[in-house]
Amino acid sequence: MTIKINQKATNVSWHEGEISRLDRYEILPQTGATVWFTGLSGSGKSTIAVALEKALHSDSILSYRLDGDNVRMGINKNLGFSEQDRKENIRRIGEVCKLFGDAGMIAISSFISPYSEDRNEVRILHDDADLKFIEVFVDCPLEIAEGRDPKGLYKKARAGEIKNFTGIDDPYEMPNNPEIHLNSHKMSLKEEVGIIIDYLKNCGVIKLL
Ligand code: ADX
Repeated sequence: MTIKINQKATNVSWHEGEISRLDRYEILPQTGATVWFTGLSGSGKSTIAVALEKALHSDSILSYRLDGDNVRMGINKNLGFSEQDRKENIRRIGEVCKLFGDAGMIAISSFISPYSEDRNEVRILHDDADLKFIEVFVDCPLEIAEGRDPKGLYKKARAGEIKNFTGIDDPYEMPNNPEIHLNSHKMSLKEEVGIIIDYLKNCGVIKLL
């Protein structure tokens, strides 16, 4: 199911400023980019995102975390967990990440983002805007994520108290070709953060002095 969002407003036109994206990047130790975590609830996305933000900050690299639960308490508070709402959730966050990237920020997003098509649309949005989209698959077997159950939600889903819970009665489509693949049940947090930071350095997002 693809939701095609057509431009609703008419008589609008793009207004250019006098400071370009490159002008902004010039005064920063980084370029804008999106680090997009995807994986099951309880796979470790938010934990890795928090550790990554902290490590970047300690190197004076500016990043900003967009977390599924947090965003659903604000900009996306009108969305639930139907397929259509999840799509809209990801579409909006994709657009927010694109704005952040244009501003010069490293956006760190952690959403289950269960549908390949939705993630792919965010990737295309970035490609078309000439922004880096780094998909990080936080791979963790369901039994382990369910065993961790940090918020007790799997237990509720098994008891039928939560419907459409990803991995239980709702699908998760694994990425085929993510830029980074982390096995969160086998790797240390330090190792995972190190892999992402190395990637950001190697692809030029973090400028090397
Ligand atoms: S997404 O599928 O639209 O990407 P998102 O990452 O924003 O999901 O939100 C997932 C978080 O919402 C989970 O970590 C969990 O805390 C909570 N949650 C509540 N209900 C559900 C549900 N039915 N399926 C998945 N997560 C849920």
